[in-house]
Amino acid sequence: MDHFLYRGGVLHAEDVALPEIAAAVGTPFYVYSAATLTRHFRLFDEALEGLDHLVCFAMKSNSNLAVIKLLGDLGAGMDVVSGGEYARARAAGIPGSRIVFSGVGKTADEMRQALTGGVRQFNVESEPELYRLDAVAREMGRRAPIALRVNPDVDARTHEKISTGRKEDKFGIPLARARAVYAVAAELSGIEVVGVDVHIGSQLTDLQPFAAAYAKVADLVVALRDDGHDIRRVDLGGGLGIPYERSNAAPPLPTDYGAMVREIFADLDVEVEIEPGRLISGNAGLLVSQVIYVKSGEDRDFLILDAAMNDLIRPAMYGAWHDIVPVAEPAAGSDRRPYDVVGPVCESGDTFAKSRPLPPLDEGDLVAFRSAGAYGAVMASEYNSRPLIPEVLVRDDHFAVIRPRPTFDEMLSRDTIPDWL
Ligand code: LLP
Repeated sequence: MDHFLYRGGVLHAEDVALPEIAAAVGTPFYVYSAATLTRHFRLFDEALEGLDHLVCFAMKSNSNLAVIKLLGDLGAGMDVVSGGEYARARAAGIPGSRIVFSGVGKTADEMRQALTGGVRQFNVESEPELYRLDAVAREMGRRAPIALRVNPDVDARTHEKISTGRKEDKFGIPLARARAVYAVAAELSGIEVVGVDVHIGSQLTDLQPFAAAYAKVADLVVALRDDGHDIRRVDLGGGLGIPYERSNAAPPLPTDYGAMVREIFADLDVEVEIEPGRLISGNAGLLVSQVIYVKSGEDRDFLILDAAMNDLIRPAMYGAWHDIVPVAEPAAGSDRRPYDVVGPVCESGDTFAKSRPLPPLDEGDLVAFRSAGAYGAVMASEYNSRPLIPEVLVRDDHFAVIRPRPTFDEMLSRDTIPDWL
């Protein structure tokens, strides 16, 4: 459920009509609903009630400072994967004790940054990383808390590019090697073993692969404790999917996911961390764009928008579907016609949808892409020297620009021409 509904024939974000935002900030723009972000965070938090737990929002899905602050104020921890995300989390007021540092290629600088500013745990993905972290921590006179990310060799049955838990994927340490690597970790004076970590992929629409992976993690916790390790935490990663296509069957809900987690871990006396991104931010955001032209091709009509692949790359990159809806509510029973919905960027890949049935649209009309709050703004680029588009946060009947559109001068001022040129 989200808070983007038609009222009086106009699509609203909570109590704000989208054309009002468009008039204030121009198009295209991203808009997020505070109520939806709050609701989705609480769904997870409540789903794990009764277990000692921390919901760490995966900042890679949406890292705007205002979004992070909103979730942090609700008690969320953060899952970060770079020095930049770590800096954002701290700037939004998240204490180090609630920041988990994930990622397959952490640098010594990133390790130092997190050890200095405070960190809940590093999720270590390889033996070389373990040795690097040990060296950095010892040099600082510290012990780094770690969980090892294990690769359970489970097929998440999701898109090839976002599947991470099979043995051919670059992530984690093979389960079969885990006990040996934990034994090594226990001998390193810069390392403090605190837990086990797993993440098998993103946009999962079925609980079965999660349950298979988590059962292996639970067995490993028991084995590691037998080996003498003090395993206090399990980090179960993120990955629960969202309904991108409203006409399809809905994926399991956080409550179903929570029940499954509870069943596997309730008796294990461990603190449970989860790292959802998409399910919290995805359906909390829209991308709003304007029709520049309707172009009639030989055998199809093109809807040429002012948003492009540089603003929302998911369709071009993963062939992802986003529902596209007109901001002015179409009359009930109005006819639909197929459009190829495209952006102005100079390559054919800049296509959001092919033959998408939509009510008749005209130049100047506004359309909204649903489910654009996750992996939207964060994956944007300035390709074709198109400025990054603004982000807007709505709460009830008010809105604020939480990232303005840069001017061309601001964009250009980041380049320098050498004086020898
Ligand atoms: N934890 C780790 C270690 C991850 O790698 C990810 C996502 C998450 C948590 C959060 O997963 P989520 O709950 O959001 O599914 N750009 C792609 C998605 C990439 C996901 C990468 N890792 C997309 O637009 O679909």
